[in-house]
Amino acid sequence: DTLRKVQPYLEPFQLSQAKLLEVSARLNKDMVLGLGKTTHHRAAVKMLPTFVRATPDGTEKGDFLALDLGGTNFRVLHVRVVEEEQKVLKMDSQICAIPKEIMLGTGEQLFDHIAACLGDFLVSQNLKGQTLPLGFTFSFPCEQKEIDKSILIRWTKGFNCSGVEGKDVVKLLKEAIHRRGDYDIGSVAMVNDTVGTMMSCGYKDQSCEIGMIIGTGTNACYMEEMRNVKRVEGEDGRMCINTEWGGFGDDGSLKDIQTEFDVVVDKTSINPGVHIFEKMISGMYLGEIVRLLLVRLAKDKLLFKGRTSEALRTPYTFETKFISEIEDLVNTLRILTDLGLEWESVDCAIVRLVCDTISSRSADLCAAALATITNRIRTNRGLSHLKTTVGVDGTVYRKHPKFSEKLRATVRRLAPECDITFLVSEDGSGKGAAMVTAVALRLARQSR
Ligand code: BG6
Ligand code: GLC
Repeated sequence: DTLRKVQPYLEPFQLSQAKLLEVSARLNKDMVLGLGKTTHHRAAVKMLPTFVRATPDGTEKGDFLALDLGGTNFRVLHVRVVEEEQKVLKMDSQICAIPKEIMLGTGEQLFDHIAACLGDFLVSQNLKGQTLPLGFTFSFPCEQKEIDKSILIRWTKGFNCSGVEGKDVVKLLKEAIHRRGDYDIGSVAMVNDTVGTMMSCGYKDQSCEIGMIIGTGTNACYMEEMRNVKRVEGEDGRMCINTEWGGFGDDGSLKDIQTEFDVVVDKTSINPGVHIFEKMISGMYLGEIVRLLLVRLAKDKLLFKGRTSEALRTPYTFETKFISEIEDLVNTLRILTDLGLEWESVDCAIVRLVCDTISSRSADLCAAALATITNRIRTNRGLSHLKTTVGVDGTVYRKHPKFSEKLRATVRRLAPECDITFLVSEDGSGKGAAMVTAVALRLARQSR
């Protein structure tokens, strides 16, 4: 009976097939706006050219450094691309923590910290005397002018360092390294994590032409026809476009599906009004949506006998990883107890139902967005049927026991003409960034 009374609270999160198709069509319109020469300034979905025009051809080789900033972990990597074996080898990598003060401090502090981590890594790898090319996976929206010039449009997720928006990130990194003066790096290639993910899978599977992230944030990139990329000269071939689909809805276009809880998550975030779609989907926010809903149900006397706890009333204490763990009943009991809650078995059932509803909506919305991309590629090429591969990464996709299956099932319903293979990328950003750097060097060599 209580379960039945909870249902009306969940309904706004349960999107019908018709609604998802509508959302998908709306995203396609926004993508066209974002690609347009005169319309992209007012587009919520930025559709950023990446200057990645070619996937690997197998002749790339050499040693590379890679930085990976913007996901759960900041990492420094040493990657070797071996031509004969057509292999990308990760030689070593190191995770380097970024304290909260730095995430919200000045840009100079952030880049000094990055340069220090890289310096320590070079020492530990005995690479300090060498000047290696570097692939920089920087998972934020950037206006790229070239592969090595990348201007941060705005911070997203938990970062907000002053003095970086509007600046060239490559320049800031190089300046920080020169301030130290004890080592140097070679040419730099800037890569979004979606692009790194696509490229690293592309080495294995030539038909991989989409990269998708469902982690701290969410986003996707794909190979678009140059003739549709109005902002870059040239009509031939393709270019990888970083959609920045997290910004979908920033112009108010998702008001009909935003619940009151989504509105609160956005309003109380460090960047209200920015990345509305992402805030309904990605790991940084899912736990908070669940928490707000649980507090409301308790207030309305449908949960925990109407009582909450100090912990449950504190923003962001319900971690997104709990949503995955709660699929298992033993974990549910532990989590609720740790949060200082008194529960009965019906409470456990309700909490699981809430978690399931929120993660299912996330998977459904991602599916709708992915369907938009695959249908676009299909119609671009005038095909009635498309077979394609998506490289995927991110903790939500990897760790939630049911997420990937739900996503796949929904996308099959929304884009029945597309046959999609999902490849989870292993070390995508490190290897992918090295690959992009290697391809850029090969192209430069060949044009000399
Ligand atoms: C990692 C990639 O595996 O996944 C990062 O190396 C990427 O580049 C990240 O940003 C996304 O997932 P999450 O959950 O760490 O944000
Ligand atoms: C955010 C960033 C985007 C990134 C995504 C996944 O949406 O703006 O660049 O790809 O998170 O990490």
